[in-house]
Amino acid sequence: PHAYYRHWREEGPVRQVHFGDGVARWLILGYEECRAALADPRLSKDIDGLEVAIARKYDGDWEGPRTHDGLRHMLNADPPTHTRLRKAVSQAFTARRVEALRPVIERAANDLLDAMAEHDEVDLLRAFAVPLPVTVICHLLDVDIEDHGTFREWTKALVGTLEPDADRAKAHDEMVAFLRKMLRRKRAEPGEDMLSALVNDADARLDEGELIGMALLLLVAGHETTVNLIGNGALALLRDRPRLDRLAADPTLIPGAVEEFLRYDGPVNMATLRFTREPITFGDTVIPAGELVLVALAAGNRDPLHFTDAYGFDPTADRAAHLGFGYGIHYCVGAPLARLEGRIAFTALLHRFPNIELAVDDSWLRWYSNPVIHGLKKLPVRLG
Ligand code: HEM
Repeated sequence: PHAYYRHWREEGPVRQVHFGDGVARWLILGYEECRAALADPRLSKDIDGLEVAIARKYDGDWEGPRTHDGLRHMLNADPPTHTRLRKAVSQAFTARRVEALRPVIERAANDLLDAMAEHDEVDLLRAFAVPLPVTVICHLLDVDIEDHGTFREWTKALVGTLEPDADRAKAHDEMVAFLRKMLRRKRAEPGEDMLSALVNDADARLDEGELIGMALLLLVAGHETTVNLIGNGALALLRDRPRLDRLAADPTLIPGAVEEFLRYDGPVNMATLRFTREPITFGDTVIPAGELVLVALAAGNRDPLHFTDAYGFDPTADRAAHLGFGYGIHYCVGAPLARLEGRIAFTALLHRFPNIELAVDDSWLRWYSNPVIHGLKKLPVRLG
């Protein structure tokens, strides 16, 4: 999407676009405009209002998602519901609580690298970038997902848009049924994990639908994104041997590099679909009420008005103010965990395989076409 974004942003920070379905959406492309939009309460994420806004755009053809189960989560809510749901879990993601997961993440990373060492060539996504975050989030929530493959198919089908789609509806129903069973078990036999705490926490006042939504959001948001932080970050390094060598030689540069990965080629493109409750003005442009608005984080993250050398990849530059985790009240609650996973993943990978290189020609690589998630289909590497 970067080429489109660049082209559009050069014409102005806010514009209307028509995608294949003929439905008009507004795109926010400038860094300052993205921040302003994400902090503006007139832009809503309330799922019911969003559906009405979408239904109007589809001229009555819209049948809507088949079920609401699993969609009643904080990322689909405005205050005060958002505030209540977020408060119920935010304690679990403080830097201190997340740091306590370090041994689990390091062990998982090292086990995967051990298994990789038995091969000359692997798909880095399948062998490392996918199983690492899945293992961590399943540990955190104490979810026993025997078949990681099925789980990944579910989440891949789910991270699309709200538009109707048979596969997505099926994946959704299967995952909700799985989560319902899991929550019943946690109610009967609570463990030490986050979901057991939530299920049995009378103060948090989460009803069954909200619990399912929370479990689904954490499982999906907690892994598909981190997979691509590792995958896209690794690709950026594999294309830039001197930088890869520098990071391998000096791991203190890795935390800064993780921030640059999130800015330069972050896992979330324009996940931030919202609708206008009231008209909003950006410069000369007025977006009327009831419009669909996509905040294009990937475009804001390469805005030359904000970042020096915005199109370049420089893991040593100060990129702390990137939009890779969003901004405002929905700022990624899992950011401390994602950062820790990213730092551990790259430190362990470059320490173990400093000579890692792409095993295919760059032109062979394919990206998923998904409006939310920006990630590669495969990343074949030679381990050296
Ligand atoms: C929200 C990105 C990892 C849980 C968000 C948002 C972004 C984001 C951009 C805001 C979306 C919006 O405003 O519409 C990422 C990236 C990650 C990552 C790039 C990895 C590199 C995680 C992890 C977890 C998580 C590991 C949990 C374990 C959440 C939740 C929200 C969220 C629950 C909703 C927060 C709210 O509505 O208040 N994430 N995320 N994310 N993320 Fe992440």
